[in-house]
Amino acid sequence: MADLEKIVSWAKRRGFVMPGSEIYGGISGIYDFGPYGVALKNNIKKLWWKKFVEDRDDIIGIESAIIMNRKVWQASGHEKGFVDELVECKKCHQRFKADDLPKEKCLSGGEHELTEAKQFNPMFKTHVGVISDETSLTYLRPETAQGMFTNFKQVMEVSRKKLPFGIAQIGKSFRNEINTKDFIFRVRELEIAEIEYFVKPGEDEKVFDEWLKKWEEFVVSLGIKKENLKHYEHPKEGLSHYSKRTVDIQYNYPFGYKELTGLANRTDFDLKVHQEASGKDLTYFDEETKEKILPYVIEPTLGIERLMLAVICDAFEELKSRTETTEAVTENEIVLHFNPNIAPVKIAVLPLVKKLSDKAREIYKDLKTCWGDIEFDESGSIGRRYRRQDEIGTPFCITIDFEEDGKITVRDRDTMKQERIDIKELKNYLFGKLGNF
Ligand code: GAP
Repeated sequence: MADLEKIVSWAKRRGFVMPGSEIYGGISGIYDFGPYGVALKNNIKKLWWKKFVEDRDDIIGIESAIIMNRKVWQASGHEKGFVDELVECKKCHQRFKADDLPKEKCLSGGEHELTEAKQFNPMFKTHVGVISDETSLTYLRPETAQGMFTNFKQVMEVSRKKLPFGIAQIGKSFRNEINTKDFIFRVRELEIAEIEYFVKPGEDEKVFDEWLKKWEEFVVSLGIKKENLKHYEHPKEGLSHYSKRTVDIQYNYPFGYKELTGLANRTDFDLKVHQEASGKDLTYFDEETKEKILPYVIEPTLGIERLMLAVICDAFEELKSRTETTEAVTENEIVLHFNPNIAPVKIAVLPLVKKLSDKAREIYKDLKTCWGDIEFDESGSIGRRYRRQDEIGTPFCITIDFEEDGKITVRDRDTMKQERIDIKELKNYLFGKLGNF
């Protein structure tokens, strides 16, 4: 199993994930994504959007605002009911979620001595306009779902959809988490990708099972090992106020099995409460029964940062040096076996020596017209450059040498096998391996 500390240090060293505002000492639970981190994140989001929005006729994408009218959060139940139980250790004054107590002993020695649980609402407050009082108060959204419920009718009408259909979005959400340990597993500023899939009441249970399968298939298509996943069925008494059934897909993180993504049957709860509170008709006219109904909602949801962490954990490997160069034999090597469809850099073009840079640059420019995420690297020994690419998970390195046979060498990250390929055939060869995504 991957070691979290090693991942954290690799992520910073290689420009994937850095603590936010670091030059000022950071800010807990908030991270910045560096050049490779944002590329990995964007590739995951692009694949998600392609699979669930572009490739389907029954799902429409939207982007709703982060800041919504406070009445949305009152009606949805978030203002009163989106609460965590907060406890504090009387000795070391650390605060914890009552349902996620630490295994570690108290910093002042012995067991923690905990206070009674207090309710804490993790929504970040903000004010809209120049006057900061109760009338201007609202929140940064803790989920993207509500923007899809409030836009339900409008989106259905403009897209002329019939049930079943879904609305999808990916967007920033904010939760002032009590405890933010475990790197990007629990953050205060997160990105959620979720779908509200509207169905006729009565079809909800079957559709729930179909989505659970699709959701897991997507996660596995990113390179996450199926054997590291398991389902957790929430007991009836522990369900959220809106849910009839919730199943989490948990991943075997270095700190144990924890929720990676979730699936909830939200029934008609949200449309009903928004219809009541806004006074607007949010019903759907069922042509078959000639009745107005409130659709049920199946909601597959996932946090992009949690997904990224799981992808990294399954891709990360530290090995005793596998490269037989003098610099490398004494050091351990890190290889990220990212699935090529999400690797931040797909191809690296490496001239063997600087003298060959012009020839290599031509190849680089030509490949760049097909794939955007390519690197050119001419500095340092070839062994070092291979290792650098292995560490960021580049599936293919292309080396240009002095041979005058019209061929170049393509090296595979995982097998380290090197193949001589005719330059004229190179694009076809790479299309075969990478596709053009
Ligand atoms: N609309 C439903 C909803 O928001 P949730 O289970 O509270 O459900 C959705 O959150 C997903 O967001 C979770 O499955 C998880 O992947 C992710 N998530 C939740 N809180 C998170 C946090 N503090 N940091 C990172 N990811 C988080």
